[in-house]
Amino acid sequence: MGIQFRNVSYAYKGLKVNYDAIKNIDLTIQPKGEFIAIVGQTGSGKSTLVQHMNALLLPSSGELTVFGQNLPPKKKEKINFLRQKVGLVFQFPEYQLFEETILKDIMFGPKNFKSTEIEATEKAKRAASIVGIDESLYEQSPFRISGGQMRRVAVAGILAMEPEILVLDEPTRGLDPKGRRDLMKIFQGIHEDEDKTIILISHDMDLVSEYAKRVIVLDEGKIVFDGTKEELFEHPNFFDFHLDLPTPLKILKHLEKNLGIPYIPKYDFKSLLSYLKEVGHE
Ligand SMILES: Nc1ncnc2c1ncn2[C@@H]1O[C@H](COP(=O)(O)OP(=O)(O)O)[C@@H](O)[C@H]1O
Ligand SMILES: [Mg+2]
Repeated sequence: MGIQFRNVSYAYKGLKVNYDAIKNIDLTIQPKGEFIAIVGQTGSGKSTLVQHMNALLLPSSGELTVFGQNLPPKKKEKINFLRQKVGLVFQFPEYQLFEETILKDIMFGPKNFKSTEIEATEKAKRAASIVGIDESLYEQSPFRISGGQMRRVAVAGILAMEPEILVLDEPTRGLDPKGRRDLMKIFQGIHEDEDKTIILISHDMDLVSEYAKRVIVLDEGKIVFDGTKEELFEHPNFFDFHLDLPTPLKILKHLEKNLGIPYIPKYDFKSLLSYLKEVGHE
Protein backbone atom coordinates (compact mmCIF):
# COMPACT_ATOMS: atom_id res chain seq x y z
CA MET A 1 0.00 0.00 0.00
CA GLY A 2 1.74 3.16 1.11
CA ILE A 3 1.92 6.08 -1.32
CA GLN A 4 2.44 5.93 -5.09
CA PHE A 5 2.88 8.89 -7.42
CA ARG A 6 2.81 8.11 -11.14
CA ASN A 7 3.74 11.00 -13.39
CA VAL A 8 2.06 13.50 -11.06
CA SER A 9 2.21 17.23 -11.80
CA TYR A 10 0.57 20.08 -9.94
CA ALA A 11 0.03 23.69 -10.99
CA TYR A 12 -1.26 26.33 -8.58
CA LYS A 13 -4.32 27.94 -10.13
CA GLY A 14 -4.37 31.67 -10.59
CA LEU A 15 -0.77 31.92 -11.70
CA LYS A 16 -0.48 34.09 -14.79
CA VAL A 17 1.77 31.65 -16.56
CA ASN A 18 1.08 27.95 -16.61
CA TYR A 19 3.76 26.89 -14.15
CA ASP A 20 3.94 23.49 -12.52
CA ALA A 21 5.12 23.53 -8.90
CA ILE A 22 5.87 19.79 -9.15
CA LYS A 23 6.46 17.99 -12.42
CA ASN A 24 6.22 14.35 -13.54
CA ILE A 25 6.72 12.93 -10.08
CA ASP A 26 7.25 9.16 -9.88
CA LEU A 27 7.62 8.04 -6.33
CA THR A 28 6.79 5.06 -4.12
CA ILE A 29 6.77 5.28 -0.34
CA GLN A 30 6.44 2.17 1.81
CA PRO A 31 3.83 2.25 4.58
CA LYS A 32 6.39 1.14 7.16
CA GLY A 33 10.04 1.36 8.01
CA GLU A 34 11.16 4.29 5.87
CA PHE A 35 12.90 7.45 7.06
CA ILE A 36 12.94 9.74 4.07
CA ALA A 37 14.33 13.26 3.88
CA ILE A 38 13.08 15.59 1.16
CA VAL A 39 15.58 18.31 0.37
CA GLY A 40 16.01 21.04 -2.21
CA GLN A 41 16.18 24.79 -2.49
CA THR A 42 13.33 27.05 -1.37
CA GLY A 43 10.61 26.96 -4.01
CA SER A 44 11.69 23.57 -5.36
CA GLY A 45 8.26 22.08 -4.57
CA LYS A 46 8.87 20.18 -1.32
CA SER A 47 5.78 21.46 0.51
CA THR A 48 3.63 21.08 -2.59
CA LEU A 49 4.77 17.46 -2.94
CA VAL A 50 4.03 16.44 0.65
CA GLN A 51 0.62 18.14 0.68
CA HIS A 52 -0.41 15.59 -1.93
CA MET A 53 0.34 12.76 0.46
CA ASN A 54 -2.78 13.41 2.55
CA ALA A 55 -4.86 14.91 -0.23
CA LEU A 56 -4.58 18.52 0.86
CA LEU A 57 -3.64 19.11 -2.76
CA LEU A 58 -4.87 16.90 -5.59
CA PRO A 59 -2.82 16.23 -8.74
CA SER A 60 -3.41 18.41 -11.81
CA SER A 61 -2.36 15.37 -13.85
CA GLY A 62 -1.00 11.88 -13.29
CA GLU A 63 -2.04 9.19 -10.84
CA LEU A 64 -1.75 9.24 -7.09
CA THR A 65 -2.69 6.38 -4.78
CA VAL A 66 -2.54 6.68 -1.00
CA PHE A 67 -3.27 3.57 1.08
CA GLY A 68 -5.14 2.06 -1.85
CA GLN A 69 -7.27 5.16 -2.46
CA ASN A 70 -6.97 6.74 -5.92
CA LEU A 71 -6.91 10.52 -5.87
CA PRO A 72 -8.92 12.56 -6.56
CA PRO A 73 -11.54 10.32 -4.88
CA LYS A 74 -15.01 9.70 -6.24
CA LYS A 75 -16.49 10.53 -2.84
CA LYS A 76 -15.22 13.42 -0.73
CA GLU A 77 -15.59 11.45 2.54
CA LYS A 78 -12.79 9.16 1.42
CA ILE A 79 -10.38 12.01 2.03
CA ASN A 80 -10.91 12.03 5.79
CA PHE A 81 -9.61 8.50 6.01
CA LEU A 82 -6.35 9.64 4.37
CA ARG A 83 -5.93 12.64 6.64
CA GLN A 84 -5.92 10.19 9.53
CA LYS A 85 -3.57 7.68 7.86
CA VAL A 86 -1.02 10.29 6.79
CA GLY A 87 -0.36 12.85 9.51
CA LEU A 88 1.08 16.09 8.18
CA VAL A 89 2.82 18.53 10.50
CA PHE A 90 2.99 21.89 8.71
CA GLN A 91 5.77 24.45 8.91
CA PHE A 92 5.40 26.46 12.13
CA PRO A 93 2.51 24.22 13.30
CA GLU A 94 2.25 26.15 16.57
CA TYR A 95 0.43 28.91 14.67
CA GLN A 96 -2.48 26.50 14.42
CA LEU A 97 -2.91 25.92 18.14
CA PHE A 98 -6.18 27.44 19.24
CA GLU A 99 -7.88 25.62 22.12
CA GLU A 100 -8.04 26.87 25.71
CA THR A 101 -5.93 24.08 27.11
CA ILE A 102 -3.08 21.97 25.85
CA LEU A 103 -4.96 18.69 26.32
CA LYS A 104 -8.01 19.99 24.40
CA ASP A 105 -5.77 21.10 21.59
CA ILE A 106 -4.19 17.67 21.27
CA MET A 107 -7.65 16.04 21.44
CA PHE A 108 -9.00 18.10 18.56
CA GLY A 109 -7.79 15.73 15.81
CA PRO A 110 -9.11 12.46 17.26
CA LYS A 111 -12.46 14.09 18.12
CA ASN A 112 -12.70 15.36 14.57
CA PHE A 113 -12.14 11.79 13.38
CA LYS A 114 -15.04 10.53 15.47
CA SER A 115 -13.30 9.30 18.60
CA THR A 116 -15.44 9.56 21.72
CA GLU A 117 -14.40 12.05 24.41
CA ILE A 118 -12.84 9.23 26.44
CA GLU A 119 -10.96 7.74 23.49
CA ALA A 120 -9.76 11.16 22.40
CA THR A 121 -8.51 11.90 25.90
CA GLU A 122 -6.60 8.62 26.00
CA LYS A 123 -5.07 9.18 22.58
CA ALA A 124 -4.13 12.75 23.48
CA LYS A 125 -2.46 11.68 26.71
CA ARG A 126 -0.50 8.98 24.92
CA ALA A 127 0.63 11.49 22.26
CA ALA A 128 1.56 14.05 24.92
CA SER A 129 3.75 11.52 26.67
CA ILE A 130 5.52 10.58 23.40
CA VAL A 131 6.53 14.21 22.85
CA GLY A 132 7.40 14.75 26.50
CA ILE A 133 4.55 17.09 27.49
CA ASP A 134 4.07 16.57 31.21
CA GLU A 135 0.65 16.01 32.78
CA SER A 136 1.08 19.18 34.80
CA LEU A 137 0.75 21.12 31.53
CA TYR A 138 -2.52 19.55 30.35
CA GLU A 139 -4.78 22.27 31.70
CA GLN A 140 -2.52 25.18 30.78
CA SER A 141 -3.04 27.44 27.83
CA PRO A 142 -0.98 26.42 24.80
CA PHE A 143 -0.05 30.10 24.41
CA ARG A 144 1.76 30.33 27.74
CA ILE A 145 4.50 27.79 27.08
CA SER A 146 7.83 28.10 25.27
CA GLY A 147 8.11 27.98 21.48
CA GLY A 148 9.73 24.55 21.62
CA GLN A 149 6.93 23.20 23.81
CA MET A 150 4.27 24.72 21.56
CA ARG A 151 5.84 22.93 18.64
CA ARG A 152 5.68 19.65 20.58
CA VAL A 153 2.02 20.18 21.45
CA ALA A 154 1.31 20.72 17.76
CA VAL A 155 3.15 17.51 16.86
CA ALA A 156 1.22 15.65 19.58
CA GLY A 157 -2.01 16.86 17.97
CA ILE A 158 -1.06 14.98 14.81
CA LEU A 159 0.26 11.90 16.66
CA ALA A 160 -3.01 11.66 18.60
CA MET A 161 -4.73 10.74 15.34
CA GLU A 162 -2.45 7.70 15.25
CA PRO A 163 -1.32 8.17 11.66
CA GLU A 164 0.55 5.35 9.93
CA ILE A 165 2.88 7.73 8.10
CA LEU A 166 4.17 10.93 9.66
CA VAL A 167 5.09 13.82 7.35
CA LEU A 168 7.04 16.72 8.83
CA ASP A 169 7.52 19.96 6.89
CA GLU A 170 10.64 21.63 8.32
CA PRO A 171 9.77 20.61 11.89
CA THR A 172 12.94 21.98 13.48
CA ARG A 173 12.93 25.34 11.72
CA GLY A 174 13.30 28.26 14.10
CA LEU A 175 14.15 26.09 17.14
CA ASP A 176 17.37 26.43 19.11
CA PRO A 177 19.95 23.62 18.82
CA LYS A 178 18.70 21.80 21.90
CA GLY A 179 15.07 22.06 20.80
CA ARG A 180 16.11 20.72 17.40
CA ARG A 181 17.94 17.74 18.85
CA ASP A 182 15.15 16.91 21.31
CA LEU A 183 12.51 16.98 18.60
CA MET A 184 14.60 14.85 16.24
CA LYS A 185 15.08 12.29 19.03
CA ILE A 186 11.31 12.13 19.45
CA PHE A 187 10.85 11.47 15.71
CA GLN A 188 13.62 8.89 15.72
CA GLY A 189 11.96 7.18 18.70
CA ILE A 190 8.61 7.02 16.89
CA HIS A 191 10.35 5.61 13.83
CA GLU A 192 12.22 2.96 15.81
CA ASP A 193 9.58 1.95 18.35
CA GLU A 194 6.71 1.63 15.91
CA ASP A 195 8.61 1.16 12.65
CA LYS A 196 6.62 4.12 11.32
CA THR A 197 7.51 5.69 8.00
CA ILE A 198 8.69 9.24 8.54
CA ILE A 199 9.02 11.84 5.81
CA LEU A 200 11.03 14.87 6.81
CA ILE A 201 11.52 18.08 4.83
CA SER A 202 14.67 19.79 6.04
CA HIS A 203 17.37 22.22 4.99
CA ASP A 204 19.63 20.97 7.75
CA MET A 205 22.00 18.51 6.10
CA ASP A 206 23.45 17.45 9.47
CA LEU A 207 20.01 16.24 10.55
CA VAL A 208 19.36 14.63 7.18
CA SER A 209 22.65 12.79 7.32
CA GLU A 210 22.17 11.63 10.89
CA TYR A 211 18.56 10.45 10.69
CA ALA A 212 17.42 9.76 7.13
CA LYS A 213 17.90 6.46 5.37
CA ARG A 214 16.65 7.62 1.98
CA VAL A 215 16.87 11.11 0.47
CA ILE A 216 14.79 12.68 -2.29
CA VAL A 217 16.21 15.81 -3.90
CA LEU A 218 13.86 18.22 -5.65
CA ASP A 219 14.98 20.86 -8.08
CA GLU A 220 12.48 23.15 -9.81
CA GLY A 221 9.63 20.74 -9.12
CA LYS A 222 11.40 17.62 -10.36
CA ILE A 223 12.94 14.71 -8.51
CA VAL A 224 16.62 14.83 -9.46
CA PHE A 225 17.77 12.20 -6.96
CA ASP A 226 16.07 9.41 -5.02
CA GLY A 227 18.30 6.95 -3.20
CA THR A 228 20.09 6.17 0.02
CA LYS A 229 21.90 8.92 1.87
CA GLU A 230 25.15 7.02 1.34
CA GLU A 231 24.57 7.16 -2.43
CA LEU A 232 23.66 10.84 -2.28
CA PHE A 233 26.63 12.11 -0.32
CA GLU A 234 29.10 10.05 -2.37
CA HIS A 235 27.42 10.96 -5.66
CA PRO A 236 30.05 12.08 -8.24
CA ASN A 237 27.87 15.06 -9.18
CA PHE A 238 26.77 15.89 -5.64
CA PHE A 239 27.41 19.61 -6.02
CA ASP A 240 25.05 19.79 -9.02
CA PHE A 241 22.25 19.24 -6.49
CA HIS A 242 23.07 22.63 -4.87
CA LEU A 243 23.26 21.02 -1.44
CA ASP A 244 25.71 21.48 1.37
CA LEU A 245 27.65 18.48 2.68
CA PRO A 246 26.91 17.42 6.27
CA THR A 247 29.51 18.67 8.77
CA PRO A 248 30.98 15.23 9.68
CA LEU A 249 31.70 14.54 6.01
CA LYS A 250 33.23 18.01 5.56
CA ILE A 251 35.50 17.40 8.54
CA LEU A 252 36.52 13.97 7.20
CA LYS A 253 37.38 15.47 3.81
CA HIS A 254 39.55 18.11 5.47
CA LEU A 255 41.28 15.53 7.62
CA GLU A 256 42.08 13.40 4.62
CA LYS A 257 43.41 16.35 2.64
CA ASN A 258 45.45 17.93 5.43
CA LEU A 259 46.40 15.03 7.71
CA GLY A 260 46.11 12.03 5.42
CA ILE A 261 43.48 10.36 7.63
CA PRO A 262 41.64 7.92 5.32
CA TYR A 263 38.20 9.19 4.31
CA ILE A 264 35.60 6.74 5.56
CA PRO A 265 32.15 8.35 5.54
CA LYS A 266 30.51 8.86 8.94
CA TYR A 267 27.05 10.37 9.02
CA ASP A 268 26.83 11.75 12.54
CA PHE A 269 29.16 13.24 15.14
CA LYS A 270 29.14 10.22 17.40
CA SER A 271 30.40 7.87 14.70
CA LEU A 272 32.87 10.53 13.54
CA LEU A 273 34.32 10.72 17.04
CA SER A 274 34.63 6.97 17.50
CA TYR A 275 36.32 6.73 14.11
CA LEU A 276 38.82 9.42 15.06
CA LYS A 277 39.53 7.68 18.37
CA GLU A 278 40.11 4.44 16.52
CA VAL A 279 42.50 6.14 14.06
CA GLY A 280 44.26 7.94 16.93
CA HIS A 281 45.03 4.64 18.68
CA GLU A 282 46.56 2.97 15.66
N1 LIG B 1 -0.37 28.82 -2.64
C1 LIG B 1 0.43 29.04 -3.70
N2 LIG B 1 0.00 29.74 -4.78
C2 LIG B 1 0.80 29.92 -5.85
N3 LIG B 1 2.05 29.47 -5.95
C3 LIG B 1 2.55 28.78 -4.92
C4 LIG B 1 1.76 28.52 -3.73
N4 LIG B 1 2.52 27.80 -2.87
C5 LIG B 1 3.71 27.62 -3.48
N5 LIG B 1 3.73 28.19 -4.70
C6 LIG B 1 4.84 28.15 -5.68
O1 LIG B 1 5.12 26.80 -6.01
C7 LIG B 1 6.52 26.57 -6.04
C8 LIG B 1 6.89 25.47 -5.06
O2 LIG B 1 6.62 25.94 -3.73
P1 LIG B 1 6.78 25.05 -2.42
O3 LIG B 1 6.15 23.73 -2.68
O4 LIG B 1 6.30 25.86 -1.29
O5 LIG B 1 8.37 24.86 -2.37
P2 LIG B 1 9.33 24.53 -1.11
O6 LIG B 1 8.50 23.94 -0.05
O7 LIG B 1 10.36 23.62 -1.69
O8 LIG B 1 9.95 25.84 -0.70
C9 LIG B 1 7.19 27.90 -5.76
O9 LIG B 1 7.52 28.50 -6.97
C10 LIG B 1 6.11 28.68 -5.03
O10 LIG B 1 6.27 30.05 -5.25
MG1 LIG C 1 8.19 24.54 1.94
